[in-house]
Amino acid sequence: MDYLLTEEQLMLKEMVAKFSKEEIGPVARENQEKGIFPEEIVKKAGELGLMGIAYPPEYEGAGMDFVSYMIAVEEISRYCASTGVIVSAHSSLGLDPIYRFGTEEQKKKYLPDLCSGRKIGCFGLTEPGSGSDAGAAKSTAKLVGDKWVLNGTKNFTTNGEEAGTAVVFAQTEPGKKTRGLSAFIVEKGTPGFKVGKHENKLGITCSSTTELIFEDCAIPKDNLLGELNKGFKVAMVTLDGGRLGIGAQALGIARASIEDAIKYAKEREQFDQPIANFQAIQWMIADMWTEYEAAWLLNYRASLMKDKGLPYSKEAAMAKLKASEVASFCANKCIQIHGGYGYSKEFDAERYLRDAKITEIYEGTSEIMRLVISSNLLK
Ligand code: CAA
Repeated sequence: MDYLLTEEQLMLKEMVAKFSKEEIGPVARENQEKGIFPEEIVKKAGELGLMGIAYPPEYEGAGMDFVSYMIAVEEISRYCASTGVIVSAHSSLGLDPIYRFGTEEQKKKYLPDLCSGRKIGCFGLTEPGSGSDAGAAKSTAKLVGDKWVLNGTKNFTTNGEEAGTAVVFAQTEPGKKTRGLSAFIVEKGTPGFKVGKHENKLGITCSSTTELIFEDCAIPKDNLLGELNKGFKVAMVTLDGGRLGIGAQALGIARASIEDAIKYAKEREQFDQPIANFQAIQWMIADMWTEYEAAWLLNYRASLMKDKGLPYSKEAAMAKLKASEVASFCANKCIQIHGGYGYSKEFDAERYLRDAKITEIYEGTSEIMRLVISSNLLK
């Protein structure tokens, strides 16, 4: 589908594909097995402009569009879905709300470090008791003198360990749920803010997923992000974009599954011939690629709508829903084509399946995606 891309987007795709193949691919399996955060790779991604692709050069961004961002996250995730989500959660969730809702002072203060990758960003919305029902968050922020004082615990925060800046949501009018939530920028090192438990996960093991704990954490009054009590909209608008980042991550996993399956099917011989000669295998590959292209087109369409400033919540939800389910489908088939070897850690197929599953869950489960799509259709 390269014919849909501009020359600039194609050049970026080629550059990120090369970087991912040469620098991410060779260490991906070992890093995943040991749960190592790919610090050097993330640093290099920053130097290549990949930590702030869709943001203006005045904030040290690469000045490209959202379609370019989608392409880059897919290419990275083709080799390592953990690195894909590190880049995506940083950019879509940690950086984007500051760009979209921040004051000029906040943008000048925080964006250059984030766009360049000198600092990593994260997003604290989910809490132990509020996942899909994001408005039910219990963390609070009270204005005491000229400081906001935050209390509460966030969990399942991607990049929680490494992030220098967190966008955090807390109730400023407890009891009002979605209408009492506000967004704040909290810097690592602020007294009363610490990283808590690290999740021990099925997949994406190179990226950290942690609690963020706030105990009488006082931040400057000016660190309110967006309007008071309008934080739920900040979260929802941010997640619309984030869902396309996860869609792109899922596309990368799907493509890795298909490319590995094709390679193996051509090499593996049974009954005196490559298994690629058998129709059972051919049909699986045909189904995988057809599903992948359908998912790619949905992601491309929603990314293009975002670039054009059109409403795209429904389209982003459709894109993530499709891409995440396609990633799991393709990873499953990839294992099937590899047979017993697919179940072994000697090959990457089992990693793809473990990584694919989370794309159906984070930044809105498939059930929430269906809810967003149907509520848009029925309203
Ligand atoms: N854009 C702008 N505004 C939006 C919006 C959107 N996409 N979606 C909703 N809103 C607005 C509504 O218009 C409404 O506005 P008013 O108050 O003015 O009427 C307000 O927000 C409340 O909307 P709802 O009544 O629809 O809210 P709800 O409580 O029923 O929840 C929901 C809706 C879609 C289920 C939402 O809660 C949701 O998306 N849940 C999933 C949360 C999620 O994705 N969490 C992932 C967290 S990040 C993560 O996974 C960790 C990580 O680090 C990767």
